[in-house]
Amino acid sequence: LQGYRGALLRFDAGGRPIHESDGLLVVRPPSPGQRCASIADVGDYATLRTRYPQLAVTHWPGKLIAPGFIDLHIHYPQTDIIGAPADGLLPWLENYTFPAERAFADFAHAQSVAQFFLDELLRQGVTTALVFSTSHPQSVDALFSAALARGLRLVTGKVLQDRHSPDGVRDATAQSLRDTQALIERWHNKARLGYAITPRFAPTSSPQQLEGAGALAARFPDTWIQSHVAENHDEVRWVQQLYPAARSYLDVYVRAGLVRERAIYAHCIHLDDEDRAEMRVRQAAAAVSPTSNLFLGSGFFDFAAAERTGMPWGLASDVGGGTSFSPFHTMLAAYYVGREGHTKQGLSLQPSQLWWHHTGAAARALGLEGVVGNLQVGAEADFVVLDPQATPLLARRTARAQSLEELLFALIVLGDDRVIAHTQIATPRTDAPD
Ligand code: GUN
Ligand code: FE
Repeated sequence: LQGYRGALLRFDAGGRPIHESDGLLVVRPPSPGQRCASIADVGDYATLRTRYPQLAVTHWPGKLIAPGFIDLHIHYPQTDIIGAPADGLLPWLENYTFPAERAFADFAHAQSVAQFFLDELLRQGVTTALVFSTSHPQSVDALFSAALARGLRLVTGKVLQDRHSPDGVRDATAQSLRDTQALIERWHNKARLGYAITPRFAPTSSPQQLEGAGALAARFPDTWIQSHVAENHDEVRWVQQLYPAARSYLDVYVRAGLVRERAIYAHCIHLDDEDRAEMRVRQAAAAVSPTSNLFLGSGFFDFAAAERTGMPWGLASDVGGGTSFSPFHTMLAAYYVGREGHTKQGLSLQPSQLWWHHTGAAARALGLEGVVGNLQVGAEADFVVLDPQATPLLARRTARAQSLEELLFALIVLGDDRVIAHTQIATPRTDAPD
């Protein structure tokens, strides 16, 4: 066993924060046949220490040990187009996204971007992500291989887009489904990896491709599903024209069998309460991407409506529509959207609530509660060590924090990658870290 001592942040089953100012995390190394280290015990240092008199302890005085962040929606091929300006989603896809993604037909290019991307996630304290690759199967192989070498829990899939897409990214219906099945068989549940069936969004998939994706989702029920829905008004109108029989945009996916447990839909901005209830009943979740929604001018996610209707949601960067890999930036943007968004009086999301939706609630949305996203006994030992004194301003502000909520708020408002003193992954790397 190995102990880690410092302040601790974790959550109870209701998402309420538990804070130990002097805590101990006890980690059990992987036993033969197990794939990674797990949390054996967690709690107050003085109480726990007597139970483990022989324990070797790494002490991080003044630091905060917290669950690794989970990014519920991010595009690794868009790492290189962050901050590309456009007049909204559809021109941005056409002018920047599709040309950038075309380059992932080249495996060596995909490999080099995958390496950078994973290094950046870890540098920012993100230990698990649900990731879009591109329509090229080799882009999926590149990311999974790199994640396997780093021992990460990561989910990705080949993008399905057989229409309204330019040459070089457009796939062919039957072949795209065969490729998806082959990738599921190659990668799903290998080590800590998982496969996500990934129709880009309704406008770029034929009804046949969506139906085929739904059939695979039924045949492989523990795979994930990821797509986009109701991000932008022009997109919503386009879907109405393409799928006139559907009650709503979300209903296109419902009819194809793509709204189920482990299905994560990015954005969910322009939904109605019937859609939200459908998401709740089918146990699908929204990946809320506020930096992307602000950057592309897509709209404001309605947090109050999500809470009212019980639609599950978690936070996501949506890089490269999103402007930052940093969970702190994402949480701050979510706070702004809550203040400015749908409710007349403005909604003040609590810092601990934002944090929960970027960790434990995101894990729950993925069907991985108790596995990642929280510091609890039995969970995989992915965690981050945060430095509340990372900058002069942070040191000054956090020293004056009167409560846990004030401390977390200071980190959210002032924090970035400099706060991440260390990112610990439960599985040792098998490649040589550079
Ligand atoms: N809708 C379809 N494709 C995309 C994409 O790559 N990014 C975002 N934000 N929305 C999309
Ligand atoms: Fe996206």
